[in-house]
Amino acid sequence: FRMVDIIEKKRDGEELSKEEITFFITDYTNGSIPDYQASAFLMAIYFKGMTAKEQAYLTMAMVESGDQIDLSAIEGIKVDKHSTGGVGDTTSLVLIPLVAACGVPVAKMSGRGLGHTGGTLDKLEAIEGFHIELTEQQFVKQVNDLKLAVIGQSGNLTPADKKLYALRDVTATVNSIPLIASSIMSKKIAAGANAIVLDVKTGDGAFMKTEADAKALAKSMVAIGRQVGRNTMAVISDMSQPLGFAIGNSLEVIEAIETLKGNGPEDLTELCLVLGSKMVMAGGKAKSLEEARDKLLAVIADGTALELFGQLIKAQGGNAAIIHNPSLLPVAAFKVEVPALTAGYITQMEADDIGVAAMLLGAGRATKEDEIDLAVGIVLKKKIGDKVQVGEPLAIIHSNSTNVERSTSIIQQHITIADQAVKSPQLIGEMIT
Ligand code: URA
Ligand code: CA
Repeated sequence: FRMVDIIEKKRDGEELSKEEITFFITDYTNGSIPDYQASAFLMAIYFKGMTAKEQAYLTMAMVESGDQIDLSAIEGIKVDKHSTGGVGDTTSLVLIPLVAACGVPVAKMSGRGLGHTGGTLDKLEAIEGFHIELTEQQFVKQVNDLKLAVIGQSGNLTPADKKLYALRDVTATVNSIPLIASSIMSKKIAAGANAIVLDVKTGDGAFMKTEADAKALAKSMVAIGRQVGRNTMAVISDMSQPLGFAIGNSLEVIEAIETLKGNGPEDLTELCLVLGSKMVMAGGKAKSLEEARDKLLAVIADGTALELFGQLIKAQGGNAAIIHNPSLLPVAAFKVEVPALTAGYITQMEADDIGVAAMLLGAGRATKEDEIDLAVGIVLKKKIGDKVQVGEPLAIIHSNSTNVERSTSIIQQHITIADQAVKSPQLIGEMIT
């Protein structure tokens, strides 16, 4: 093959073969294809799109560019979950023990966060002593023994995606649904699960700002999964306001514990039950979504989900006492109220800006090298639809610095208070199977 011919073919809207796509990925990853040709190719994809077949070929070529995790030594159907990312999204932390308590093996490979708050790994590291450095053998054994384990991302997972993502970032080609779908799915498939449940967020705080785009992305990812033999399904969920109340690492661990006890925020709890039901069913532990939901509610009610979270923490070197005594988690030195400047009803809470306010406090990373302050963040006191008086707190800032002016004013500016009440946005949108 010659790369110029492949670029031309895509430019003219023709369908590429498996061999052509694999050639591009292999030779771009090993450095034989220069960035200028890859850039032109990405831009052609951006404008002409990719068929379902092309997306599956691209995904598998990226999977095969690096390590693939072999989970076959773990008994049962391994189910993974992925969220396209939001603000204060505590669902993974809740779902790992919740689904495992229903008997589904959870072999979780997690990453660190960039932006608003940390990733699942950062959040777990808010627990004193918790470590994610397990050998593959230890990882497999722990999942077989306890049904759950969490490890850090292998260094050589989908190197083709890493290199392409960096190029997309500087060539204005990140926002292409076939490229996003294959990028996400390549990482999930390489991580080894048999079934994948996707939480595709839509709204202001999400990557996909409109429901139509979220649906298109979800459909692409489900189609890729199906074509390559992984049972894949997606739920569209709202991210026009932050999920739950807590945004920040230690604060989200506390929120997860409350949710596992059955006292969590309504929206976070519901999303965990919806995604968890799909995972339990995909894992073969229930015959219907209703049966799966009943099982999830039962392991919350009888405390086994929370207890299993404690066992996970203990197995990975952490202080399991935090599940009964969350004050053992890192605590910020100062708590500062963010007062409402007017009275009325909350009609909008721009999730991404509130996420920025949390990041400025130190809860997230602006660059990969930044260190996170695990104790800090924001706890919302109101959500869309709520009534508020002048001076009433909209949120509490947890900070290790007394200088919280910028975060305070960002929160105030990006929570809209109006005279007329609005309904709170619908949390769960379409399901794509
Ligand atoms: N997240 C990814 O992993 N890949 C993309 O292309 C976009 C978001
Ligand atoms: Ca939250």
